[in-house]
Amino acid sequence: MASHTNRGGLERRILLAATSASAASSVLPRDSAAQPSTVPAADMPVRLRINGREHRLALDPRVTLLDALRERLDLTGTKKGCDQGQCGACTVLLDGRRVLSCLTLALSAEGQDVTTIEGLAGPDGALHPMQQAFIDHDAFQCGYCTPGQIMSAVGCVAEGHAGSEDEIREYMSGNLCRCAAYPNIVAAILQAKAGMERA
Ligand code: FES
Ligand code: FES
Repeated sequence: MASHTNRGGLERRILLAATSASAASSVLPRDSAAQPSTVPAADMPVRLRINGREHRLALDPRVTLLDALRERLDLTGTKKGCDQGQCGACTVLLDGRRVLSCLTLALSAEGQDVTTIEGLAGPDGALHPMQQAFIDHDAFQCGYCTPGQIMSAVGCVAEGHAGSEDEIREYMSGNLCRCAAYPNIVAAILQAKAGMERA
């Protein structure tokens, strides 16, 4: 718990520093504003437990969990869409709760179990009921949003927010699909919910 508290404080300090820098640049004379806006930060050691495996990394404290997954650990199943919390393509689970990895600092995930789309299938390769349901219902077209949709759907069912089509639509509204596969996604979640409850 102590490390969570420290990370939370760290996260706040980083965000405050970023906010202060931004505010300062808006009032400084033009010559001053031309100075580099980012100050190099020393890498910090971090241990991330991802899909049951521990990884030791040294990261700039400003690195997001999304970039750590994709750029440092080659876990590219988690997608970068907007990179600002609006599309849901980057959804992963932290201790079973869905989060947007583009808005989560990697250091803040230390001490929690990170689950990505790569960790959803069983050790024998058997698909998770949600993955199978997305296939069964053709719940994707281009597939770019699909890892985020599936991870969010797993979280949605675990939260108990998949009781009806309307409820699923509401609690999945943070995951956008440019191909508009929404009706199939809802049908897939209803099927997977039944399978997850039997498991
Ligand atoms: S990439 Fe994170 S919400 Fe769009
Ligand atoms: S399947 Fe193409 S964006 Fe969702």
